Amino acid sequence: MLGPLLVLSTLLYLGPGSLDAVSITNVTVPDRGGCVILFAYPNDPTWENRVEFKCEYSISSASATPPTITWLRGVFSDPDREVIYKWSSSGEVYVHPDFVGRVSVESRTRPTLVLTDTTGLDWGRYWCRVTNEEQPDEFGTDEESLLFWYNLGDWVDAPTRLSYVDLDKTPVHVEVGGTVQLDCTGNGGRTASILWAKGPEGCTQGGSCSSYETVIHKSDVWGAANTDPEIFTISPNYDGRVSLAANDYGSITPTLIITDIRPSDAGRYWCAPDISEQYSHLGPLNRDAQSVVIIVNDDQPSCDGKADGMFQDPSDCSRYYTCSAGVLHGPLPCLSGLVFNQALQVCDWPYNVDCV
Ligand SMILES: *[C@@H]1O[C@H](CO)[C@@H](O)[C@H](O)[C@H]1NC(C)=O
Repeated sequence: MLGPLLVLSTLLYLGPGSLDAVSITNVTVPDRGGCVILFAYPNDPTWENRVEFKCEYSISSASATPPTITWLRGVFSDPDREVIYKWSSSGEVYVHPDFVGRVSVESRTRPTLVLTDTTGLDWGRYWCRVTNEEQPDEFGTDEESLLFWYNLGDWVDAPTRLSYVDLDKTPVHVEVGGTVQLDCTGNGGRTASILWAKGPEGCTQGGSCSSYETVIHKSDVWGAANTDPEIFTISPNYDGRVSLAANDYGSITPTLIITDIRPSDAGRYWCAPDISEQYSHLGPLNRDAQSVVIIVNDDQPSCDGKADGMFQDPSDCSRYYTCSAGVLHGPLPCLSGLVFNQALQVCDWPYNVDCV
């Protein structure tokens, strides 16, 4: 039994991390704190009409194919957000007609967007999105944004009262039935509009990723009506399970609490608090967002949604169970010292297998 198994393992060994690996993308726009301002001196021949929007990312575990890099302009999660520039995994490059000859990205590993020959019409919020093609339906898409402002001369007339968000992006592991708290810093309180969205659940071939689900939204309360209560909108999927944490003074913060975690809660969550639209002339463009991934440890073997085959027991990788027409058999133990290799559908040496 061990002989043929070892031969197979040698031939088909796929390398660590290749089985059921959860791969998470982390995008960072270092200059997202305020406005990226281009001071313009059109009459000065030495002035360079050029600005850089920096973007960095990491994917762990590293993916084999290069990811798709997309720079977008516009309002967070708006399906009509404009794609300015897109460098697909396949190598194909798209540039928005208004930006032809004016934008470039030199490196796919450091996808800084270089914008030249701007007139000021290009101001707005720019998003750097990295789509991990290997996990397109799970945690594939992260993005971060900056605000760009074109400023004529020295006198700064850049927008003030900017929304910002700061979220701990370390993935959160939680058991089914457990509670998570996603600590998010940013605009809070009664005058802030606070949005938590989940998704997107996957991007289309065309690169559109607009299927965000509103987990919870708190309206802003402003002006004469500031005795009105805030209005909460909560997704039916989270009914009775989500809330926004209050601070020591009883004021609502953007920190999200989800109780009674379900397997379907796994995914990417966006904290997007915003200064009241009445308070910032940027309107919805003012909304910044950052995301964090929730991973649900579902330790119960289950055949729900699984094809026929054998699967590693999530709580003990030296055991496996069999699904046959949706019916679960097992779990059964491997021979002593072996663990279950799902790709090869055999019990195998531990060094050939990732224990999930
Ligand atoms: C994401 O990347 C940034 C910058 O590269 C890094 O400082 C941060 O620790 C990373 N966060 C996670 C959760 O990997």
